[in-house]
Amino acid sequence: DKGAYPYYMLKEIDEQAVVARNIAGHYYDEDGNLQGIPCAVTDAIEEADRLYIVAAGTSYHAGLVGKRYFEQWAKIPTEVHIASEFAYDQPMLSEKPFFIFLSQSGETADSREVLDNVKKQGFPALTLANVMNSTLTREADFALPVLAGPEIAVASTKAYTAQVLVQAILAAALGNPGFDLKAELAKVAVEIQAITDEKETFKKIAEDALVGQHSAFYIGRGLDAAVALEAALKLKEISYIQTEGFAAGELKHGTISLIEDKTPVFALLTQSKTAGLLRGEVAQVAARGANTIVFASENLAKEGDAFVLPQVNELLMPLLAVIPAQLIAYYATLARGLDVDRPRNLAKSVTVQ
Ligand code: M6R
Repeated sequence: DKGAYPYYMLKEIDEQAVVARNIAGHYYDEDGNLQGIPCAVTDAIEEADRLYIVAAGTSYHAGLVGKRYFEQWAKIPTEVHIASEFAYDQPMLSEKPFFIFLSQSGETADSREVLDNVKKQGFPALTLANVMNSTLTREADFALPVLAGPEIAVASTKAYTAQVLVQAILAAALGNPGFDLKAELAKVAVEIQAITDEKETFKKIAEDALVGQHSAFYIGRGLDAAVALEAALKLKEISYIQTEGFAAGELKHGTISLIEDKTPVFALLTQSKTAGLLRGEVAQVAARGANTIVFASENLAKEGDAFVLPQVNELLMPLLAVIPAQLIAYYATLARGLDVDRPRNLAKSVTVQ
């Protein structure tokens, strides 16, 4: 039931702060110790020499963020693969691979195909899914809940943040983030709420920048490039505005030729190592007439940025940076008079290959 909300998508965007708290409540006890991840899971992963995250769509984008946690905190080399590609072009694997399937529905046919293949080869697999007791959770060796609660809108929102959160927690169980993850996640929940409270800001940005436009871009570097992919998918799948998300350094290798007068270019700027370079790229597209809209974290923000994202640990910034993109996709679609929850040609759960 969507209650007072006009669309499920908006309700689900708003639920993300509560989802973050629920996930922390499930995976941490009162003393701040991790719980709910069986030793069998961590033991099996610790035996592996490499993780292979396999997923589709938004879940694939969540995997691109999760890779950082597994590599930086747990020190396990991690690859992220698109399920429909991996299924028919399996890359050369390490000696002891461990597979992680990410899925909201747990029914995605492309991912199921890969799980079948992997099982035939005798490799261990864990599914992180929102719908437990789904095919992918039943058929993998292990399963952990993503705990986003029912997600109805075709455009995935809270399942993305929940998948990122659960991967962070799993990586913390395998290694050491070097800071108090539980405390930082509590802050993330507060700040997600603060951003979702700014709806009017994003409604105005969406209406000013996107109504009447036929294309748009999201750029970023590092983790922001991963979020740019998700931000672009969100906008294009429901508003039908052709949107590309990509690593900002690639602009000069081709895409910058697409920039015209007023082309909307959204820049996500939350990673200090590359902030200077990204500022340069924003200036380059602005010089060619682009309408640049910068979402920068507090530590990196400058006069003229469209919105300042509250500061949390940089590796957790994707959890905040994605929220404006979700709201902008929502309001742009609304302004174009389209059905936000049921975009044409799409199904919530893609059960065919
Ligand atoms: O249920 P899954 O997470 O396996 O689904 C994967 C994709 O089909 C899904 O994320 C899709 O890309 C969404 N429509 C994105 O909003």
